[in-house]
Amino acid sequence: MTRTVFVTGGAGYVGSHCCKAFAEAGWNVVVFDNLSRGWADFVQWGPLVRGDILDLPLLTQAMQACKPDAVAHFAARAYVGESVSHPADYYRINTTGSLNVLTAMREAGVRSIVFSSTCATYGVPVHTPIDETHPQQPINPYGWSKLFVEQMLADHDKAYGIKHVALRYFNAAGADPGGCIGERHEPETHAIPLAIEAALGLRPHFTVHGSDFDTPDGTAVRDYIHVQDLASAHLRALACLRETPRSAVFNLGTGRGTSVKALLDTVEAVTGRRINRLQGPRREGDPALLVASAAKARQELNWQAPLSRIDTIVRDAVAWHRAQSDTPTLAGAGGQPMTLRTP
Ligand SMILES: NC(=O)c1ccc[n+]([C@@H]2O[C@H](COP(=O)([O-])OP(=O)(O)OC[C@H]3O[C@@H](n4cnc5c(N)ncnc54)[C@H](O)[C@@H]3O)[C@@H](O)[C@H]2O)c1
Repeated sequence: MTRTVFVTGGAGYVGSHCCKAFAEAGWNVVVFDNLSRGWADFVQWGPLVRGDILDLPLLTQAMQACKPDAVAHFAARAYVGESVSHPADYYRINTTGSLNVLTAMREAGVRSIVFSSTCATYGVPVHTPIDETHPQQPINPYGWSKLFVEQMLADHDKAYGIKHVALRYFNAAGADPGGCIGERHEPETHAIPLAIEAALGLRPHFTVHGSDFDTPDGTAVRDYIHVQDLASAHLRALACLRETPRSAVFNLGTGRGTSVKALLDTVEAVTGRRINRLQGPRREGDPALLVASAAKARQELNWQAPLSRIDTIVRDAVAWHRAQSDTPTLAGAGGQPMTLRTP
């Protein structure tokens, strides 16, 4: 029997790649997204219900209508800097919105949820690599807004028997190797698309924030995970919730760090273009090193991340960006045409 997954935020970057993986694995996919930060043309693997997770009656109605076997909950605001300037939006959308998702699940009788959490719930690392037992002491409202959801998930398991898998992503990156979707944020704040756009002449420069960190080359080190490997972890999580309903939390990273300098070198090598690098000051609250221990996901989810070498990530991301810059206009947020920045 075909099973249905209800995907909040399925028109966004990670959510759309997961929808593709779900559909290819035989799931029916229903996307619930308000397109505030997502893209109508990314919804290719099932119907789109255009709605806001803050609209509890509509959310409940949509969930009851499709009677899903599970929910994959991606819808959120996800910019650290914006969370500092607009914390109320983050607590409302990420935290209250997630409570609405859980409430709608109770109303619709759905017992399983896979939740997009984040390494931002850990705060400044006290040891590296970061495993799931590392203290969680966020240093910004974004991290707090997600940590509160992790707590709500645990309480909803205890009280109502709703089982969850919370996946703490490190840095999602790359694009669908088939080229039909990729990383598109507006505004863009993520290092890899910014570096590629700088290499392709779509931005004048790339600013390296801090070159005096205690790392081998002085620049900050991050753990990049290919978005398709993230998608396969979500599939594994859905399978585990079905086979042995048990709540769990997993890091999704590689255990390998890439410095900003090494990342820029890789983008230059893949594109064959020089990046105009500017030196900027460190950003407040930017740790030197954020690297996951992914041992638990490997062992308990039986998950591997074969595409998450940095050169593979950059190759797929560059292919997507090149295809986009050849396309004059794209369907934009809210289905409105979005004109691409020109060099
Ligand atoms: N991208 C990363 O590196 C990363 C790292 C850690 C965690 N995450 C988490 O993964 C999830 C997806 O991130 P992303 O990079 O794909 O972000 P994204 O902005 O591309 O996608 C978020 C989607 O949620 C939708 N959305 C936002 N608010 C909504 C609302 N109120 N109602 C309905 N839909 C709404 C947006 O329209 C968008 O389609 C988020 O929960 C984010 O916190 C992302």
